[in-house]
This record gives sequence, structure tokens and C-alpha cells, in this order.
Amino acid sequence: MPLVHEVIVVSVLLSVRGLKKYFVQGGGILGGEKEVVKAVDGVSFDMKRGETLALVGESGCGKTTTGRLVLRLLEPDDGEIIFDGVNITHMSMKELRPFRRRMQMIYQDPYASLNPRKPIGEAIAEPLIVHGLAEKEEAKEQAMKMLERVGLTPAEDFYDRIPSQLSGGQRQRVVIARAMILKPEFVVADEPVSMIDVSMRASILELLKGFQEEYGLAMIFITHDLSVARLVADKIAVMYLGKIIEYGPVDKVLRDPRHPYTAALATAAPSITMRRRKRLDIKGEIADPRNLPLGCRFHPRCPYAKEDCASKEPELREMDDGRLTACHYPLEEGFLDHWLKG
Ligand SMILES: Nc1ncnc2c1ncn2[C@@H]1O[C@H](COP(=O)(O)OP(=O)(O)OP(=O)(O)O)[C@@H](O)[C@H]1O
Ligand code: SF4
Ligand SMILES: [Mg+2]
Repeated sequence: MPLVHEVIVVSVLLSVRGLKKYFVQGGGILGGEKEVVKAVDGVSFDMKRGETLALVGESGCGKTTTGRLVLRLLEPDDGEIIFDGVNITHMSMKELRPFRRRMQMIYQDPYASLNPRKPIGEAIAEPLIVHGLAEKEEAKEQAMKMLERVGLTPAEDFYDRIPSQLSGGQRQRVVIARAMILKPEFVVADEPVSMIDVSMRASILELLKGFQEEYGLAMIFITHDLSVARLVADKIAVMYLGKIIEYGPVDKVLRDPRHPYTAALATAAPSITMRRRKRLDIKGEIADPRNLPLGCRFHPRCPYAKEDCASKEPELREMDDGRLTACHYPLEEGFLDHWLKG
């Protein structure tokens, strides 16, 4: 039998290493004590072309800040962002221009993302003109096709409407069309369906999935909703107070969490626990990000904390099944299943 040499090309599109963003509040001319919010505090992950990474965690844990940093919409304080093999971390705005077309952001609130006075057809055509990809007439033609593609048909009825003449779901279709007209390779979608009527959510997610398949898009999908994460994502990163505390294939992480915080999130989501009503309670509220707990940031709330958890910070490390977990005493494999049945 002839020997077949297979070359496996692992196509990493985005590589993030040790990303940090600290916001400093107070201490300026208005006085007050200077306080530092460690919004993103050493985040690392890789993404392949076409892959979707769900970013989940409680409000204020640093999801939006991570998304904006990766797109260079915010300046990182530390760390590296490598996009398609190029280090873009410290690029000037001019150097970033060609990358801007390839990386897009879709925000939660479509109304705030659109100019209220600009006809939506023009809003969709505009990025083509700004990036010098088409003249006015050609841009209009492409925008008309894009309106049809996102389900705003007949396009000529929609082209001249302004955002207030559309429903929330239709506005989000415009925002998606505006991002997709540039055929990006990477998108950060920040809670893109959370402000949309529940009846519209599935079709908007389908629309995003369709573009993803067509363009081979990689996507960071930020969400509070674990059932949505499971529906759209390949991998999941669970954040807690500025850090990723668990990372891996979405089904594996949600069905069999090894970090107590992920387990608590999973038991709060009926779709993950097959509607069993048992919940793994965690104590109190998320800590004040200006005053982070020492050691493991989750220790004041963790039902499994031991003495050294309050002094020693756990690193993300690989478990025997390949996922990454930041816990000194990770849960046993199959813990959640046993616990739910117990
Ligand atoms: N521009 C800013 N200045 C000061 N603090 C900020 C700024 N932006 C974010 N923060 C703080 O950084 C932390 C992380 O915020 P971020 O918006 O990234 O969280 P999030 O996970 O997206 O939350 P949510 O689920 O509510 O959208 C929060 O404590 C927030 O108050
Ligand atoms: S390190 Fe300790 S406190 Fe932190 S999650 Fe693990 S067991 Fe809980
Ligand atoms: Mg956010």
C-alpha cells in the first residue's frame, strides 16, 4: 500500500495572547480616588477560519471589551492580536485600513448603529464607497442585492426608508447587510439578537449562519444565553471578571463543565439541564471589578473553594479531554450529569 502523506493545514485566522485592558476612573481634574477596572486581564485564544466562538459570562465580565480590543476599536494595554499571521496590535489607523474591511462588528442595538436620517440602502452601500470597492452606481446595485439577500424585499421598497420606518428585526438585518457587503473574514457579533423580538431571533441567527457558510466567516458571538451559544458556536469561552475560566468545544464544556462557575451557569439554563429544576447555587454577587478578590477571582462565591483558593490564582490548564479550565480543584468528568441525577 502506498504511503499517503497528509498535510494538515490548521488555518488559524486570529490569535490573541495575554490581552489586557484596564480602565482608570477618577483621579483626574474632577478629583476622587483613582480606581482601576481590570476589564480584560490576560485573555488568550485562537480561532480558525469559519469557526464560531461564543463568549459568555455575567454582565461586566469583559465580553464587549474583548470583542472591541480584538477589532482594534479599543487600544489594548498589553498582549498581542495576530490576524491572518500579521501582528495588528500596534498598527496605526492608516496601517489598519485594509484590515478594517476584513473585520466587522455587529452591535446589540441596531437603532444606535444606524444613522437615523440616512436611507438604509445608502447605509448599506456606504462601506463599499468608503473602502474604494465600488463607485456610487455599482454600490447601489450591490446594496439592492444585499437587501434582497437579507430578506428586505422587494429591495426598491426598502432602499429609501429610514431606520425608524423599520421594525427592530428589520433594522438588525440592515446592520448585518452593512457588515456583510464587505465580505469580511471575521465578525464580532455582540448580543445581536438580545434586543430583538423573540419571534425574529431564529431567523436572524439563520441569516448570520448563512453568511458564515458562504464567506467562511469566523465569528465571536457574545451572548448571555447558553442555548443560543450552543446553537451557533463550535467553541465556547466562559469569562469571569476579565479572565477566561473555561474554554473548549461548546457541547463538551456546557454538558460536562469542569469549572464550578461554568457548572453554575449551565444549571441556570433549562435547555442545558434538560429542564431539570436543580440549580447549583453560587453565593452572592459578582465582585466589584475595581476591587478584585485575591487568589481565584471566583473563590468568594465558589461552593467548592478550599483554603489555598483565596491566595493562589489558578491558570488556564489543559484537562485530560483537551479543554482548558482555570481551577485548582476541577470538577470530576461527568460531574454535572451525576449531580443532576443525585
Ligand atoms: N469605557 C469604559 N470606562 C470605564 N470602565 C469601563 C468602560 N467600558 C467597560 N468598562 C468596565 O469594564 C468592565 C467590563 O465591561 P464590558 O462592557 O466589557 O462587560 P460585558 O461582559 O460586555 O458586560 P454586559 O454583559 O453587561 O454587556 C465593566 O466593569 C465595565 O463597567
Ligand atoms: S480554584 Fe478554588 S475557588 Fe476557584 S473555582 Fe476552583 S475550587 Fe472554586
Ligand atoms: Mg457587553
